[in-house]
This record gives sequence, structure tokens and C-alpha cells, in this order.
Amino acid sequence: MATKRFMTLPRHILEGERLHPEATGELSSILLQLGLAAKLISLEVNKAGLVDILGFTGSSNQSGDEVKKLDIYAHETLIKAMDHGGHFCVMASEEEGDIIHIPANHKIGKYVLLFDPLDGSSNIDANVSIGTIFSIYKRVSEGTGPGTLDDCLQSGYNQVAAGYVVYGSSTILVYTAGHGVHGFTLDPAFGEFLLSHDDIKIPKHGRIYSINEGNYFSWDKGLKDYIKYLQATQFEGKPYQARYIGSMVADVHRTLLYGGIFMYPGDKRNAKGKLRLVYECNPMSFIIEEAGGRATDGMQRILEKKPEGLHERTPIYVGSVEDVLLVEKFLREAEE
Ligand code: AHG
Ligand code: MN
Ligand code: MN
Repeated sequence: MATKRFMTLPRHILEGERLHPEATGELSSILLQLGLAAKLISLEVNKAGLVDILGFTGSSNQSGDEVKKLDIYAHETLIKAMDHGGHFCVMASEEEGDIIHIPANHKIGKYVLLFDPLDGSSNIDANVSIGTIFSIYKRVSEGTGPGTLDDCLQSGYNQVAAGYVVYGSSTILVYTAGHGVHGFTLDPAFGEFLLSHDDIKIPKHGRIYSINEGNYFSWDKGLKDYIKYLQATQFEGKPYQARYIGSMVADVHRTLLYGGIFMYPGDKRNAKGKLRLVYECNPMSFIIEEAGGRATDGMQRILEKKPEGLHERTPIYVGSVEDVLLVEKFLREAEE
């Protein structure tokens, strides 16, 4: 690859494609189009706090336009940006119960797009980081007609690409197409994503654990023991630190950069936890594994689970290899 200075997302994608002569360029145009959708959502997210000041109350603004909840806006923006390129046979979104078909007048392609349009949306009003998560598969259904539910319910190891965008102190897009994990920060002046984090590798062990400790009394013994162990132990001469943003996308992004572990366990009230396998856990696990980390539900690799429903939930332990192995050990020992 050429010099990394001023490496834009489009240039990075095109140069990556040149290294793979077998590539048809389709995946590149999908990623570019996702980058465009991310810019549109980012702009809207940045305006979120102005809604009241500008007099946008109720369900319509002064010009009569409907004011949409931000997660619905993000959902619709992604569909509008992605449904007409001819690349997809079916899509599915965390915001919609069923699969989303490609409109009748558009070409049908061989890829499948799954997304959580806005993750962490309960944080919006407090200006806390939120994000978009996406996951791309090849169709498994035969033929060239509309895609099916089965296309959307593939195990995570079939992903051909996955990524996320965090709308935080700056907007960053992180993606993998199976050849490393790369991060691009949005320059608000140019409106361009610039390579800021090349070939990200997650540390083997970290000092940060991330979990909603408010659920402590519902946890299983193994998890309670693990957290108590971390609180009483030092790593490299310093105590462990707890960090929990409450947006999985942002918590996992921090985990990717600094190492450590993010957990959303199953507990006595919700055996499968809260996070969704298809929209949240599979893409984030693919990225973390591609960066050298580990992601399991405590017993099984997330990417090997076979989803049975679009909105199925799963417990998740994801992050640095050594940290995830350790929690698995605690969970196993408590079972014995
Ligand atoms: P979403 O906004 O897409 O519904 O997801 C919210 C999720 C996830 O982002 C976060 O990790 C989790 O909810 C936080 O849940 P708790 O409030 O139970 O900790
Ligand atoms: Mn979510
Ligand atoms: Mn969401």
C-alpha cells in the first residue's frame, strides 16, 4: 500500500482491492456506500441536541416534516442508501421484525446486509457515544431471486465483512473484510473518512473490565467470583479498572483499542442476556477475532452459533484473549 498519510476510506478500499485480483469490486462499493450512510447519520446525530431549541416538538417540525426518532432515521437512511446498488438480495435491521426485501424495481445481488442502525440509543439525550453496526454475508439461498430468512440466519463465521461506526468525540468507522481491522476518523471539515488506525491489534491482556454491575445479584456464581477476583487482583502492578458506557459499540471499541473485556452475561432474569446475536454480537466478535481477540458466550465461540431467529439474544464475553479465557475458566469451575 502507498503512504498512509491522507489515506481516505475510498482509497484504502480500492488499494486493498488491488491486492486481491479475484475481487469483483462489489464489496468495495458496498463499504463505500456504507461510509456515505455513516456520514449522513453522523450529521443527524450531531444535531440531536438542537431539536428542542429549533422548535422541533411533537411529531412534526415547523415545515411540516415529520421528526423521526434518531434510531428510525438511521434505520431508514441505511435502507435508502443500500437497497438500490444491486448488491443485496435481502437485508435485516434490529429496528424491524422481519427481513427487508429489495424493492421490486431494483436489481438483486448476491450479498446480505444486517445492521443495528443505532446502538446505545438510550444514551442519545446525554450526549454519550452511540453507533451503527453492520454485517455482510454472501447469500446461501439458490438462484438470483429475492433473498430469504435463511440468508440472514447464517453463523457468524460466514461473514465476509463487518464494521461499526461510533458517533463519539469524533466519528470513527472501523471495518474488516477479513484482512485486518482498520479505523477511519471522519474529518468534519472535508467530510472524508481518513485512515487513523491501521491494522488494529487488540492487546493479549487488558486492565479494563466492562459490565453492567447493577445486575450483580442476578449473576451466576462463576461471574460473581470472576469480578471479585478482578477487584482483588492487580495486573502489571495496577488494579483493574471498571468502565461501562452502556453502548456496546463504544464499549467494544474501547476494548479493541485498550484491551480488557466487555461482558453482557445471561443472568437469572434473562438467561440469554440482552444483546442480539445477528445484529450486535456476530459483527463485533468478527472484528475482535480479526484483531487477535476472543469472543464467546461463556461456552461456545460466538461466531459458531447458529442463529434461530433474527432477534435472538446471546450472552457475550468479548475482548483480549487472556481475559476472555479467564472468565470462561471461572464460569466452568462454578458449573463443576
Ligand atoms: P440498542 O440501543 O441498539 O437497543 O442497544 C442497547 C444495548 C447495547 O448498546 C448496550 O450494551 C446495552 O444495551 C446496555 O444495556 P444495559 O442498560 O442493560 O446495561
Ligand atoms: Mn444495539
Ligand atoms: Mn439499536
